[in-house]
Amino acid sequence: MLAEQIEDTDTAALPSLPITIRAGSPRDYDGMNALFAEIDALHRAARPDIFQEFDGPARSPAHVERILCGPASNMLVAASADGLAGLAVLLIRPPSEFTGAVPRVVVEIDTLVVLERHRRRRVGRRLLAACVEWARQRRATHVELVAHSFNTEAIRFYEAFGFSPSTQRMIMSV
Ligand SMILES: CC(C)(COP(=O)(O)OP(=O)(O)OC[C@H]1O[C@@H](n2cnc3c(N)ncnc32)[C@H](O)[C@@H]1OP(=O)(O)O)[C@@H](O)C(=O)NCCC(=O)NCCS
Repeated sequence: MLAEQIEDTDTAALPSLPITIRAGSPRDYDGMNALFAEIDALHRAARPDIFQEFDGPARSPAHVERILCGPASNMLVAASADGLAGLAVLLIRPPSEFTGAVPRVVVEIDTLVVLERHRRRRVGRRLLAACVEWARQRRATHVELVAHSFNTEAIRFYEAFGFSPSTQRMIMSV
């Protein structure tokens, strides 16, 4: 009874969504496209000077297969009872040729997105933890990503996990 009362007043905390995190497969293509469509629309709405409307899926099956099968890339997916709830695209960055750079192995999170209807249910956090684990298994020294400055929610998400800003990319129309 008391527990129910406490739960009723705790409107901020949604229960974790049951998911399984696994490597993506070509069979996930439709679910992946639904996720890519959400993040593409978000970027387009905020930065129409950079991102444009397109017909059909922006990433072809061949493109997705290259990520899935490439020696330096992968896609992790969060599978829920009603399909994919999230995905992350991972790339192992080529080593720097600059001799002044400390030798590092960097895994880049190229895209990470959770379906809008499943957000704030710890899907993103678990996907991100799986990305870090994937990187550790490949002896990475760092995990890096780029977040657009407008995307304050994503920035807060990464900071809550332990990421911190490094460089600041500047842009000017000419
Ligand atoms: C960013 C994103 C992946 C987060 O996924 P999520 O499953 O909703 O995040 P989680 O539930 O795992 O949140 C973990 C923590 O991150 C922080 N966080 C997540 N979303 C947040 C938001 N909208 N505002 C502030 N903090 C947020 C919170 O600290 C949260 O913990 P809490 O819920 O216990 O407070 C999701 O909002 C998303 O897909 N956004 C659109 C795509 C995008 O911007 N991707 C990143 C591109 S760089």
